[in-house]
Amino acid sequence: MFSNIPPYDGDPILSLQETYALDPRADRVNLSIGFYYDEDGRLPVLRSVLDAHSALGTTHLGRGYLPMSGDPAYCSAVRPLVFGDDCEACVDGRVATIQTLGGSGALKVGADFLFSAWPRSRVCISDPTWDNHRAIFEGAGFEVEAYPYFDSATGAVDFAGMIAFIGALPAHSIVVLHPCCHNPTGADPTPAQWDELIALMAARRLIAFFDMAYQGFARGIDEDRYAVRAAADAGMSFVVSQSFSKTFALYAQRCGSLSVVCASSEEAQRSLGHLQRMVRRNYSSPPSYGSRLIEHVLSDDSLRTAWFDEVAGMRARMARMRGRLHEALTADAKDGDWGFLLQQNGMFSYAPALGRHALALRNDFGVYILESGRICIAGLTSGNVAHVARAFAEVASAG
Ligand code: LMR
Repeated sequence: MFSNIPPYDGDPILSLQETYALDPRADRVNLSIGFYYDEDGRLPVLRSVLDAHSALGTTHLGRGYLPMSGDPAYCSAVRPLVFGDDCEACVDGRVATIQTLGGSGALKVGADFLFSAWPRSRVCISDPTWDNHRAIFEGAGFEVEAYPYFDSATGAVDFAGMIAFIGALPAHSIVVLHPCCHNPTGADPTPAQWDELIALMAARRLIAFFDMAYQGFARGIDEDRYAVRAAADAGMSFVVSQSFSKTFALYAQRCGSLSVVCASSEEAQRSLGHLQRMVRRNYSSPPSYGSRLIEHVLSDDSLRTAWFDEVAGMRARMARMRGRLHEALTADAKDGDWGFLLQQNGMFSYAPALGRHALALRNDFGVYILESGRICIAGLTSGNVAHVARAFAEVASAG
């Protein structure tokens, strides 16, 4: 009956993680999947989350389904992180927000929602982008193409190329943007570039879909929402997905949100209804425990402050590790230009030249990076950075 089903090629991130998990070498280093490891090489349990867990006890047991759009208290708690406390669109009731199954769930529901409204629009994703973007939007029914994003000569954003491409798109095209910590490159537009891009998109009546999975890992929780807030302040209608997997270290709880910013509160109400419809036909309603933890942290002043501090600590550790890797590589591989490591932001750096050696790095040194050349900086520790630098230097010298 199923003999016609072709084999699955596997996923460049999640399937590699399965290979990593089976690797028996004690000194293997995981720089592939987007996990934040602490200085001891462990996935942390945040203090703020632990306190919320103690406070909640067993109160989450013996409850019914959450509504299709999730826990309203969670939605109210997470929305100000995305838009800021004083965002006019939120105050006016023009933003429909639902709880989602992580960032991927938000992207899927958002893609289905947009396809129901604009089925003939094309979706444009950055070149390169997170490996799952194309699959999610094509899976929703869209035609997907890529806009220029990364300048491999400078390791920075090819802003001129991006603007030229986006500026020529027909009205109602959907443009997927990473407001901070671009995945996989770690190269972000500046605030002035965001302003220019948003003005262009508003003038051309394009639909922005902001995918925000690393808020707080570039410059700060407030600073990293710059692009989203600028789009809201420009009066645009757009979509934002949010993930808490990394910033709350709650990967397996699948916590995220999806917000649709509308022209009126009446339009937001109707949009909310359609988001509910999309949820119902995909998975009915989200799970509740992770979202209760997050809602508890965000609604308690001292836990909220503690969480902001913990995110700042993660951000600072990743920046230190960039510096340490750069320093070690500059010593071990003098011929290479490793400056991009310092220039890029957040969890990832991007070195396609190293990606060509991903298999050798894995087999010969136990160092896992993606074949695209994406390196998860958050997997570096004081204990493994010298080994990683030696491995990178050795494969780089092989050409
Ligand atoms: C990643 O980019 O590594 C993470 O977001 C995990 C995933 O789902 O791909």
